[in-house]
Amino acid sequence: MSKEREMEVWSALRGVKFPGMSRDIVSFGFVDRVMVNDETTRVDLVLTTARPEAAAAVKEDVERALAVVAGLPPAEVLVKVMAPPSPAQQAVSQDANLIPEVRHVVAVASGKGGVGKSTVAANLAVSMAKLGFSVGLLDADIYGPSMPMMFGITERPVVENNRMHPFDRHGVRVMSLGFILETDTPVIWRGPMVMKAIEQMLGDVEWGALDYMVVDLPPGTGDAQLTISQKVPLSGAVIVTTPQDIALIDARKGLAMFTKVNVPVLGIIENMSTFVCPHCGEATDIFKRGGGEKTAELLGSPFLGRVPLDPAIMEGGDAGLPVVVSQSEGPHAASFKSLAERVVSETAKQQPPKLSIF
Ligand SMILES: Nc1ncnc2c1ncn2[C@@H]1O[C@H](COP(=O)(O)OP(=O)(O)O)[C@@H](O)[C@H]1O
Ligand SMILES: [Mg+2]
Repeated sequence: MSKEREMEVWSALRGVKFPGMSRDIVSFGFVDRVMVNDETTRVDLVLTTARPEAAAAVKEDVERALAVVAGLPPAEVLVKVMAPPSPAQQAVSQDANLIPEVRHVVAVASGKGGVGKSTVAANLAVSMAKLGFSVGLLDADIYGPSMPMMFGITERPVVENNRMHPFDRHGVRVMSLGFILETDTPVIWRGPMVMKAIEQMLGDVEWGALDYMVVDLPPGTGDAQLTISQKVPLSGAVIVTTPQDIALIDARKGLAMFTKVNVPVLGIIENMSTFVCPHCGEATDIFKRGGGEKTAELLGSPFLGRVPLDPAIMEGGDAGLPVVVSQSEGPHAASFKSLAERVVSETAKQQPPKLSIF
C-alpha cells in the first residue's frame, strides 16, 4: 500500500522542474528518498547549487505538487543543499582524466605517523582484491614510502614507452614513490615537486582499469597532504588512529582537513586497539577502550572497525607479506575482510548527485 503511494509521489515529483531548467528534479537525480507511512509523506532532496533561492523554490514546488495528490498524508520535505565544487576541486576533476579508468579512489590517512596507516592500507587493498575487485595501491607517502618493504619489492618498475608498470602482488597493482626515489636520503619536498611526483604516479603509470585505488597518504595535515588530496581525485578517505587521546585529537585534525577540500570521510579505523598475546592468545586493552568509536561518534563519522596490536601483523609488514596473505585464514584476514566490505559500502553511499546546477 505505502509502496503504491510512494510511486504516486515519485510521479508527482517528475512534474517538478528545477527553476530555469526544462528538466525535472527526478531526472536530475536530486530526489534522494521518498517514504510514505500513515502519518507523513517524507521527501528528501539533495541539491547541488550555489543558489539558496533555487533550493527554496524547489521545496515549495514539491510541497505544492504533493498537496494535490489525493489521499496523501501531510508532506514533510527536507532539502539538503551541497555547495558546488571549489575551483581547486574543479581543477582536480579536470585532472581526473589522468586515471580515467579508475572508478573509486580511497585515501588512507592519519593525523600523525606510526599509527599503522601503511599497514592498514596494504592489508585493506589486498582484502578488497580478495573480494573480487580490481585494486591498485598508490604509496604517496613522501616522507616514508613503505610499500616496497611491505610487499617485499626491491626491483625497479618496468618502463615501457615512458610509462611505468605497477607491480602485481597478491592481486593488487602496487606503485610507490619508493620505487622512483634515487636514494635513501630524505627528500625535502617542495609544493611543486609534490605535485609533479603525484601527477607522474597517476598519469605515467599503467594502472589500467581499476574498481578501487587505495592511496597511502603521508601522515599529518599540512600543505603536502592538502596538495595531494587536491591533486588526486579522491572519492573518500578513511582515517587510521590509535586509541590514545593524543592520536584521537590528530584524527580530528585529519577529518577537518578533508572537510576543507570537500572529501567525504568514509570512517575511522582504530589500529592497535587491543594486544593479543602471542602465547596464550588473550586480548588485553593496553590503551583506553572505545576511543576510536567515541571519536567517530563525536565527529559524526562511521566507525569502520578495529585492528588489534599483534606482532604477527608487524612481522607480516617486515617480511613483505601482509598478514592477510601470510595468515589468510586467520582472524586478522577476517577482520580486514569486513573492514574492506565496510569501505566498499561507505564508498557506494558517497555517490554525489549525478548532475549539479551551478
Ligand atoms: N596492528 C598492528 N600490530 C602490530 N604492529 C603493527 C600494527 N600496525 C602497525 N604495526 C607496526 O607499527 C609500525 C608502524 O606502522 P606503519 O603501518 O608503518 O605506520 P604509518 O604508516 O602510520 O607510519 C610498523 O612497524 C608496523 O609493522
Ligand atoms: Mg606509512
